[in-house]
Amino acid sequence: MLDAIRKNFETEEGRQKSLQLRDAFGEGPDSFKDVLWVGECTHSFSLAAGRLAGVLPFAEETDHPFNLSQACWCSTELRWPRTLEKKLELDLVQNLKLLRSRGVWCSDDINGVKLKQTLDKANCPHSSFDTIFWMMPYVPDRQWRPPASISTMMYYYIQAFLESAAHVCKEDGQLVVVVTSAQCLSWNLYNCKPKWQDRQLQPEVWWFDVAPFEKHGYQSRFGDGRDRYVDYPVFHRLCDTVAVCWRMNSCASPEDDVNVRGVTEEDIAARKKLLEEVGKDPNEETAAEVETEGT
Ligand SMILES: C[S@@+](CC[C@H](N)C(=O)[O-])C[C@H]1O[C@@H](n2cnc3c(N)ncnc32)[C@H](O)[C@@H]1O
Repeated sequence: MLDAIRKNFETEEGRQKSLQLRDAFGEGPDSFKDVLWVGECTHSFSLAAGRLAGVLPFAEETDHPFNLSQACWCSTELRWPRTLEKKLELDLVQNLKLLRSRGVWCSDDINGVKLKQTLDKANCPHSSFDTIFWMMPYVPDRQWRPPASISTMMYYYIQAFLESAAHVCKEDGQLVVVVTSAQCLSWNLYNCKPKWQDRQLQPEVWWFDVAPFEKHGYQSRFGDGRDRYVDYPVFHRLCDTVAVCWRMNSCASPEDDVNVRGVTEEDIAARKKLLEEVGKDPNEETAAEVETEGT
């Protein structure tokens, strides 16, 4: 399964349709972007991004090639894991220590759907960003909801996030959410076109390779403590993930529905079919086909 997911990134076409880290976070020595991470829970994703970008040392190492210099990185969460979630709290403390030692501003009480107000209230040192990034957005309130209502709720929740984030994003910046490809389809994100000034922003969809982040410390968390006894979450090894990006200078028009940049809905459907075939014996299938034809 993991090999099948990796094939996404190891072909020329896969690479061309994948989000490149330098597009989201910039690159050293002096072209880092101003980045705001939202909903970071234990901050293991922004920590891994810092390691991959070379502004934080890899685990067990002390050296790293670059400094953020003039760039500002802010890693935030609505509500940090509290004492009952001991394992998560320990991870959080460790990650905050590392990020802050490299000049990353970290805070909770930052609400993704009220970004400007909550960043101001928390005295965030920066007020406008090149990239605003939410890794695995979700509402972690542990309320039971009928499955059909979750998709609609997430569509509107993400739209509210985008419209709030637009107020703290630079004119040529971008808003990014990473979700599974199945969520991208069922939450209808291809048709999520947030309003900004007198236009609507157009989404682009790119494959997103989580493996390098997991290799350097990222552990996906629900954010509501339900996975507090899980040491190494494997969620992303089981799912294809995509980054949905809205560039602030984009403008949705009817033709864009057929000219989506990056990964199309058909690409996702084809990948889903491929993953469904993983591990199946091709001979068995041929035998079944022959049997059906013979009846
Ligand atoms: C599925 S978890 C993902 C956590 C982390 N980004 C990761 O990839 O492991 C979703 C996170 O979003 C946070 N969240 C939910 N609503 C939020 C909001 N309105 N503003 C900021 N964060 C929010 C939750 O507290 C939770 O930590």
